[in-house]
Amino acid sequence: MHKATRSFGLVVPAVAMLAVAALASAGTGCGSSDSPLLISTSSSSSGTGGGGGAGGSENQGRELFEALLPDLAKECGACHATGGDTPFLGDPTTGKPDPYTTITSWQGFVVKEPKKSDLLVHSVSKEHKGTKPSDPLYAKLLEWLTEEAAYVADVSQEDQPTIPPFKPIIGGFNAVYLGALGPGFDGMAVTFVAEELTPTSLSLTDIEVHPTSKLGLKLVHPLFTVFEKGSIDGDPDPVDSFSNVTLELQPGTAGVLGPGTVVLANWKTESRISLAFEGATVIDPNGMVDPNASPCKAVESFTANAAPALNVCLQCHGGADPQAQGAVDMSELTSAPDKTCGQVLNRVNPAAPAKSQIFVTTNPGNQAAHPFKFAGNVAQYNTFKDAVTKWIQEEAK
Ligand code: HEC
Ligand code: HEC
Repeated sequence: MHKATRSFGLVVPAVAMLAVAALASAGTGCGSSDSPLLISTSSSSSGTGGGGGAGGSENQGRELFEALLPDLAKECGACHATGGDTPFLGDPTTGKPDPYTTITSWQGFVVKEPKKSDLLVHSVSKEHKGTKPSDPLYAKLLEWLTEEAAYVADVSQEDQPTIPPFKPIIGGFNAVYLGALGPGFDGMAVTFVAEELTPTSLSLTDIEVHPTSKLGLKLVHPLFTVFEKGSIDGDPDPVDSFSNVTLELQPGTAGVLGPGTVVLANWKTESRISLAFEGATVIDPNGMVDPNASPCKAVESFTANAAPALNVCLQCHGGADPQAQGAVDMSELTSAPDKTCGQVLNRVNPAAPAKSQIFVTTNPGNQAAHPFKFAGNVAQYNTFKDAVTKWIQEEAK
């Protein structure tokens, strides 16, 4: 379906498409349209889409979510509202941040197969440190996620390796995990800051790629595609900004994707974006990379200042949580601090320490989708930040 719109000649203003869909559903003149191109694009999507935009129907996701929000807030709000460790509920009392926006932007929650949503899978798993949803709440969550799923494009059959459409966190830090590309990609991520410049343009800045400490990564020609709210028809970046980009990264390193920034001029508020690659390959170094090489200059300061402060991260990044260790491997924090220093350095901005990912993602006041924020304790967070910053300043010298 969104393959049809990949070829740039077929890109259709979505407003026009909605209008056509409405016309079609009202049973009026397909033949009376003076643009046959619109008809063919629209019918190929709504005919087979199994819901998304079909027959001019509209996503009732927000309505369903708002109806179940009181129950969700009651059962889960004590730990999952803003100020907690995993604030995917936003602030159900004040609406700032908006619960619907926050929960639908949370990585892995709104997906094509609702039963595989992390919201359902994790909350009932034995790994979950909180309470399970009650049966009535579970049923409502499933109904809501099923409605949302009808409006998420299925990219599983795409020719190119593709990260399914997700809603970026606007005005904040995003970490998009590449696990959907295959098992070897677990823990690898593309990270960026998303900012809405106008209601029709989205800028992504500081776009970085993070392989894991064990495996490297080669990416060729990334392409962002915008899916307007309620539509499964994708509209690829009209400028194809990264057409010349090839990025190859050794294990344990990080790199900037192309120029590190892009403006999507085909953005519409509340859209989702997918990310496809002409090529995406995991590189297994087979021992060819020197495991003792550390890019850190200030290992002594790391050991003295940062390592004790990072202890609290070990409960997940030390190895108990493979996703966390894949993302930032701190398993050798005490046994080989120089190696862990190298891993943490990948998530640090020496030129502007406060903007470092290790701070942004663990800051209790930040909406980044990370499962630990010092349980909302700002003083503890500041102590952590001050200690680690001493090391970062040494690295920057
Ligand atoms: C007593 C506190 C508490 C309650 C109540 C609670 N949780 Fe949690 N939840 C946690 C903690 C702590 C974590 C992070 C550690 C973990 O993975 O369990 C978490 C993590 C999660 C995650 C994983 C988020 C991510 O991206 O990693 C989901 C999903 C989740 N909870 C859903 C729920 C749902 C749904 C409810 C209500 C039925 C709920 N939780 C109630 C404490 C709680
Ligand atoms: C409760 C478990 C847990 C704790 C504690 C934890 N993390 Fe994480 N962290 C994760 C997981 C899981 C991921 C991978 C995220 C994902 O898969 O969505 C992650 C990813 C990250 C990332 C990559 C960017 C991102 O947001 O995905 C950074 C940086 C990070 N953590 C820093 C830290 C720091 C610094 C600490 C300690 C102050 C810490 N984490 C404590 C679970 C944790």
